Amino acid sequence: MKNRIYLMIILLFFVSLFFVVYYGKETFLVNKTVNKEQKEYTYHFVLIPEEEDNEYWRTVEKGARDAAKKYRVYLEYIGPSRANMEEHVQVLDKVIAGKVDGIMVQGIADVQFTPLINKAINKGISVVTVDTDLPESEREAYIGTDNYLAGYIAGKALIEDTIGPQQVGVVIGRKDAEHQQLRVDGFKDAIEEEERIEIVGIKESKISKTGAVQATYDLLKENPDITAFYGTSALDGIGISQVIRTLKPNLDPYIIAFDTLPETLKLLKKGEIDALVVQHPYEMGYRSVETLIHIKEGNHPEKLQYTETGIWRIEDLIQQKGTYSNEDDPE
Ligand code: BGC
Repeated sequence: MKNRIYLMIILLFFVSLFFVVYYGKETFLVNKTVNKEQKEYTYHFVLIPEEEDNEYWRTVEKGARDAAKKYRVYLEYIGPSRANMEEHVQVLDKVIAGKVDGIMVQGIADVQFTPLINKAINKGISVVTVDTDLPESEREAYIGTDNYLAGYIAGKALIEDTIGPQQVGVVIGRKDAEHQQLRVDGFKDAIEEEERIEIVGIKESKISKTGAVQATYDLLKENPDITAFYGTSALDGIGISQVIRTLKPNLDPYIIAFDTLPETLKLLKKGEIDALVVQHPYEMGYRSVETLIHIKEGNHPEKLQYTETGIWRIEDLIQQKGTYSNEDDPE
């Protein structure tokens, strides 16, 4: 009997030893891979877009990837599939919980984003805001358009390009986003003293093309006398002009919109859009990575790094051929 018990103990010992060696080896191998990856990269940064598959954000990503490649940064691009406050905040929270060195994120809204950005900073993660600033937070720098100014120059362009009374329909990307509001505030201030120009309605596109179509349609239904449209996010101009082309071809309103995506540039060239507010998303991505590196190296880069903004009309497009951000020729 005693011998049997001894035999059982010895057997158990060898079985446990086998598991210890086997799983120990597996763990060891995983660690080795992680170490190898860590050695290959200097830093691990994450870029959080407003919407993952949005062409504008893909351009920001391209700039960030090019800089990441140059400086050997491990870059991740993670964001909501459709623009959405709740999901956006969740992504940011998850990224903060992970072990990253730096985050590039929009400062979409004070209440939801400031505590999270400050939490990241307290954890030693560097944060820069990109495209939309949140100066109330402890973010270390902002890289992007001066959104108030962009709205202001849009208003001035409308004044310059039109004569007589104008009833303006505004398609805003999101009412809950700081930069979209600033683009409307700047626009309103620019036209304030111009009595012939009046905003007759503001509708949200939820930053999608179909949303912009719906918003334009609703604006026209409520205000059939609209003579001009102002779109404040990258896909709004495409949606506005689609409604005019298909439903109201005789209207020919003045259209001013944001961004120089290839499709928008084609519309400018065809005369379906009259003017565009230019932003530089590629540069925003590139400079954000560079700025995070400077911070990590112990430097204190300039807090407000505004990328250029300006207005393009068809004649500027011809002059600028080949130099706009996407480097695509809009045929
Ligand atoms: C804005 C981005 C936004 C994009 C949506 C751009 O004009 O700067 O914040 O995500 O439009 O399409």
